[in-house]
Parts: sequence; structure tokens; C-alpha cells
Amino acid sequence: MSELTIAHLSDFHLCIGPGSWRDLLTKRLYGRLAWRRRSTEFEPAILESMIDDLGRQDPDLIVITGDQTHLGRLAEYHAARALLETLGDPGKVMIIPGNHDAYVPGAWEAGRRLWAGYLSGDDASEAVDGEIFYPVSRCRNGVEIIGLDTACPRPWWLATGKLGRDQLERLDGLLAAAAGQGRARVILIHHPPVPDLADWRRRLEDENALAEILAARGAELILHGHIHRRSRCLLVAGERRIPVFGVPAAAARGRLPERRSRYNLYRFSWSRKQGWRLAWKERRYSVSRSGFITETEWCDKFR
Ligand SMILES: [Fe+2]
Ligand SMILES: [Fe+2]
Repeated sequence: MSELTIAHLSDFHLCIGPGSWRDLLTKRLYGRLAWRRRSTEFEPAILESMIDDLGRQDPDLIVITGDQTHLGRLAEYHAARALLETLGDPGKVMIIPGNHDAYVPGAWEAGRRLWAGYLSGDDASEAVDGEIFYPVSRCRNGVEIIGLDTACPRPWWLATGKLGRDQLERLDGLLAAAAGQGRARVILIHHPPVPDLADWRRRLEDENALAEILAARGAELILHGHIHRRSRCLLVAGERRIPVFGVPAAAARGRLPERRSRYNLYRFSWSRKQGWRLAWKERRYSVSRSGFITETEWCDKFR
């Protein structure tokens, strides 16, 4: 029997310092104005409580599906790096970038270098001179965890994401190879790949091309962030039905329960008789208890 437990959290949106006057000339001005509203919804204490709770749950791997920072500034990249180190070393924590991490052109390279160990896969050849060629993948106990990059700077009114043809082609090969080796495949993607989960301003631009690959190759689980609310559905890709989960922003107090901070645990187990099985569990922040509680015990129903 082979087993792996993965914890999934997302969207720290760390926002540090007042920024510089140069920021007023970029999209960061818009992000800073939006932060005046968001900062009242996010509480650092909730994030600290989540980190404590994660320590008690002790998953094998922690994955974070993007937007570690809010404005993609150097101070934020450093703060995120420190936070990642409190969660664990790069072997225990895997992250992907979100649109807020690559908020303005030219800034993301510094973040990529600072977070390199947490962003990378098992194969060192994926990273050359600080550039990472996505997808990246890590294999743990027969489960292949594949990280995608949808983050690219967009004008201030857009928060869309794009995979691009090269990344999609490599993903196609990676999914096929992992299936050939009998591995369960988990995809990490910041923008949800399901139509209607994000509006036109926030959607994944090449979701149809991704759906074609998923229809052909399949995947056992897809995890996303970006929309700052709980989501759970089955992605219909050809004949396949693939479980898709999203979690709210990690520090969100959230007036609505689906927008309140939570993280999920996913447990893969393999046996000769049954093959791969997947169960999931939700831990959500309780305002009255000022801590995390189990909302859904281990469950294998995806509808
Ligand atoms: Fe976000
Ligand atoms: Fe996002």
C-alpha cells in the first residue's frame, strides 16, 4: 500500500510596505487601491493559525497555488520566502506563481530566483539561469505533482492567465508519461481551468486547449487558487470527469463561509486490488474558535 497526503492552500497576498513613487506609474497603483478594501478582509493572525494547524496535521507535501504576494514587489518576495521557510524546506513545500506574483513586467525574475527551490520540480534541467521551464513535476510515493505557470503581466483591468502552446505541449507529454508509469497525476494551476468559475477578466485564456489535453490524457486531481473562494467540481473533459478543488485566500476572514480561510488535505492511496484511490478533507477557519476545525472529514465523493 502506497500513500501520500497533500495539503493545499493558496493566495497569501502578502502586501509589505508603502511602495515607491514609481509604483504609482504602474499597475501597482491599482493593486494598492484594491488593497485598501482587501486589507480589511485579510488577517495575518488567521494565516499564522493555519500554519500552526498545518504543523499538527503534518501532511507529506504542502502545495500553494499562487499569489503568494499582492504587488509582486521585492519586499513581498522576501516576506513570502520567510513564510515558506516556516512551512518547511523546499522538499516539503511546492508552489506555483499567480498573476499577482508577476504583477508588472520585469519584476517576477527576482521572485523566481528567491523562491527557486520551492518552485522547482525534481528535475534540475527544468531551471536554467533562473528561468524555469514549465511544467515542473515532482514524484512522491507514486504521485506525480505537476506545477503549471499561468502568470503573466496584464493591463490593470485584467487578471487573466495563459499557459501558452509550448507549456501545453510539454504538459501533454508529461501526463502521458506519468500515466504510462502508473502514477496518479495532480495538476497545480493558479487560474481555474473550469468555465464559469472565473469571469472574463480573470479567466484562463487557453482553457479550451488545456481541456483537449485533459480529455486525451486525463489527470486524477486539479488544484487551483485565484478566485478566493471554495470550489469543488468535476471538470468534464471528453469522456473524463476530473475532480477540481479551489480554496479561499489563506488569510481571509470572509463574510461568506465559502470565502473564509480554509485548506484542504488530499490523500492518495494505492493498492494492487483497487489501484489509486483519492479522499479529501477540509479544514476551515472558525471565527468563534479563532482556529481551524474540520468541516468535512475524509470523503471520496466529488459531486
Ligand atoms: Fe489571489
Ligand atoms: Fe490570482
